[in-house]
Amino acid sequence: MVENTVKLADGNELPLVGFGTYLIGTQELMDSTIKTAFDAGYRLIDTAQLYRNEDLLGQSLINLQIPRDQVFITSKVAEISQGYDQTIESIDDSLKRLQTNYLDLLLVHWPVHKYFFETWRALEQLKADGKVKSIGVSNFSMAHLELLQTQAKEMPVVNQVELHPFLNQRPLVKFDKENKIVTQAWSPLGRGVVLDNEMLAKMASHHHVSVAQLILKWDLQNGVAVIPKSKTPERIQENYQLDFELSEDECGMIDLLNRNQRTGEDPELVYELGKQYKVHH
Ligand SMILES: NC(=O)c1ccc[n+]([C@@H]2O[C@H](COP(=O)([O-])OP(=O)(O)OC[C@H]3O[C@@H](n4cnc5c(N)ncnc54)[C@H](OP(=O)(O)O)[C@@H]3O)[C@@H](O)[C@H]2O)c1
Repeated sequence: MVENTVKLADGNELPLVGFGTYLIGTQELMDSTIKTAFDAGYRLIDTAQLYRNEDLLGQSLINLQIPRDQVFITSKVAEISQGYDQTIESIDDSLKRLQTNYLDLLLVHWPVHKYFFETWRALEQLKADGKVKSIGVSNFSMAHLELLQTQAKEMPVVNQVELHPFLNQRPLVKFDKENKIVTQAWSPLGRGVVLDNEMLAKMASHHHVSVAQLILKWDLQNGVAVIPKSKTPERIQENYQLDFELSEDECGMIDLLNRNQRTGEDPELVYELGKQYKVHH
């Protein structure tokens, strides 16, 4: 049987395949994609303060009459909301926008130097207050996690990082595993750039699946959770249909495609500069 969830270090269950909502920016599109995703079997929905669509998601769940306890909602503290008091206040605002009284998972969106420990302390408090069931981080390197460990009362249970065949993050995935942190892949399809690879196309056709399905299965077999995004109904459905197995050799061949190619910013730079996006002068 294929497992749909993984147990986190805090005892909560994390759905292994979630739905990413970055760039889903209208109520109509949120309603239609969430309906397709929920009907297809997805239970985790990934949003963030930065995506400016928490309100759309909250409204969709009401429009679609999806009970709150049937979905796992992840959100993330934006850089601009970091710091102890600001984080706490910003999550009250997130909860209002989402029309709920708790998040299943709250992540620090990017590590920033200035508020590194204060923001985490706020997440620990939000969990103690029951406003958040699980707490984790996003875009943390091993060095960031080791630094956090020097002051954290509890450690993150999830680290959501950019991860796809061109950036497979093997050392970080291993480190996360050793520290009971589940790695969750953002841009698991490399925002589309890995989908044209010839070797992946051949391997996928051998299994009668798409390259996207092949990559998502490779993640799951490596113990990595995924949150693919699509606004296309057929793709949303296909990305959840992962009932096939890759051999160890096949997984190894996919691993060889790594070339440390990022589609997003380097977390080390965001940590130093506090800015996720490049400043254009
Ligand atoms: N923590 C962070 O810092 C961070 C950063 C970035 C993203 N994220 C999260 O991760 C989620 C996923 O990442 P992402 O949206 O950047 O990229 P992604 O999921 O790797 O790729 C999305 C792109 O792939 C296309 N696609 C999806 N399924 C496909 C399929 N089966 N066949 C062909 N093309 C397919 C989509 O097209 P269509 O939509 O046109 O179908 C879209 O252009 C985001 O939505 C967000 O929730 C987190």
